[in-house]
Amino acid sequence: MARKKSAPAADSISVELATQFRRRLHRWYRVHSRDLPWRQTRDPYRILISELMLQQTQVSRVLDFYRRFLDRFPDLHTLAKARPQRVLEAWEGLGYYARARNLHKLAQHVTTTADGIIPSEPEQLRALPGVGAYTAGAVASFAYEKRAALVDTNVARVLQRVFAPELDPKSGPGLRRLWDMANRLLPRTGKVTWTHNQALMELGALVCSARSPKCGACPVKRICASVERFEQRP
Ligand code: ADE
Repeated sequence: MARKKSAPAADSISVELATQFRRRLHRWYRVHSRDLPWRQTRDPYRILISELMLQQTQVSRVLDFYRRFLDRFPDLHTLAKARPQRVLEAWEGLGYYARARNLHKLAQHVTTTADGIIPSEPEQLRALPGVGAYTAGAVASFAYEKRAALVDTNVARVLQRVFAPELDPKSGPGLRRLWDMANRLLPRTGKVTWTHNQALMELGALVCSARSPKCGACPVKRICASVERFEQRP
């Protein structure tokens, strides 16, 4: 059933609407998702590297860096023992070098205090250098298949357009509401959460893009509160 155009708060996304959204999104993902190397592993170290690299950097650019970085530093212990200069060299070209410095610190911290085990709970992950709410949700759900939400710019855009076009995703209250929505939309199990979170990101990257959303190809257009606005554009 198609929904009337309105902008529900997180707590007014009905169970039925959430179910429809997930069903359509997951079905689409199974057909259209890209085969990316970090989707073929549940190794927390590899997932962490990919997620830090993917912050502020496009997938196509990350692919080569990801492979080369893992060739040089195949595990957390090797990374922890490396000279800082070597880590920065491996990051060269990706920019935002604070990510590399924090990653190195994180590796040293986790190897000395936690036997090299990257934590699985978002709250513990958030306590690590350079790990914010998004990365914590990504590592928990992608590596450990935890039922954890994530919101990055892509996901924020999708949720805002589908459920709350009036909302400013850059404002503090707007962002908090988007996190509430992301939590409310989570599937029941951690295993399905893996697919759900990947699918949200994939929809934002491939279909619901910032400048030219391809509403014709969107699996959730029938329940999207913004589709008319975009389809009416010249
Ligand atoms: N950007 C951040 N995480 C990603 C992922 N797992 N797949 C594709 N793009 C991403």
